[in-house]
Amino acid sequence: MTVSTVVPHHVAIVMDGNGRWATKRFLPRLAGHKQGVESLRRCVRACIQRGVRVLTVFAFSSENWNRPAEEVSGLMSLLAMALGREVPSLSAEGVRLHFVGDRQGLSEKVAAGLAQAEQSTAHNERLVLNVCFNYGGRWDIAQAAASLVARGEPITEAGLNGAMALAHVPDPDLFIRTGGEYRISNFLLWQSAYAEFFFSPSLWPDFDEAALDAALQDYASRERRFGQTSAQIQQVAASQVRA
Ligand code: IPE
Ligand code: IPE
Ligand code: MG
Repeated sequence: MTVSTVVPHHVAIVMDGNGRWATKRFLPRLAGHKQGVESLRRCVRACIQRGVRVLTVFAFSSENWNRPAEEVSGLMSLLAMALGREVPSLSAEGVRLHFVGDRQGLSEKVAAGLAQAEQSTAHNERLVLNVCFNYGGRWDIAQAAASLVARGEPITEAGLNGAMALAHVPDPDLFIRTGGEYRISNFLLWQSAYAEFFFSPSLWPDFDEAALDAALQDYASRERRFGQTSAQIQQVAASQVRA
């Protein structure tokens, strides 16, 4: 089960590869997205078991509107269906849900469902699950800057930090992308400044506990330097051991 000694507080995942998973099985792409929901369910449980406190997943990007209309509407229905089906059990497991992204692009019904799910899980404390839907890193930076301007506040790093859509959680420690692609695709551009990256060859529906553990184990072996030298980091670690 737990394989790493240093567990990341915040894990962010680009859940990629649903379409290819389905196509390989001669299934419609939406079948891959459905299986993706199951994979997310499994991943949430595994993260709780391993002591991860924040999980942020990319479910629908600002650019995914450019997909065929049938796939877009299928993804919207799937979100509504998953909300109805999964929220009670997620809540029972101590998951606090946040939906991150531009709600203005969503139908009233979907937006109301998201708000309801957030409200009904607001008291939970085991895991914060941020589902990024109609989200883009550039949108996030632009909306944060716009809100500072609207409030007549100067645009500073601290100000932007506080106005970003993920201001309620610390920055991600580990950024995983599944599906074998090596790109960010407009995910957490601002927040991943010092994240450790891990690219998994598994297609998202196949991303199981073992695949997650591979990422966690790799993370545990990294030295995070935040601009300092290795000697400085080791000195701090040694003084913490002595203390
Ligand atoms: C990720 O899987 C889910 C969404 C983008 C909604 P894809 O649908 O991008 O799957 P591939 O990359 O085509 O296999
Ligand atoms: C990123 O995957 C978005 C999500 C996983 C929701 P894409 O499949 O849309 O990314 P690109 O188009 O391959 O870069
Ligand atoms: Mg993809």
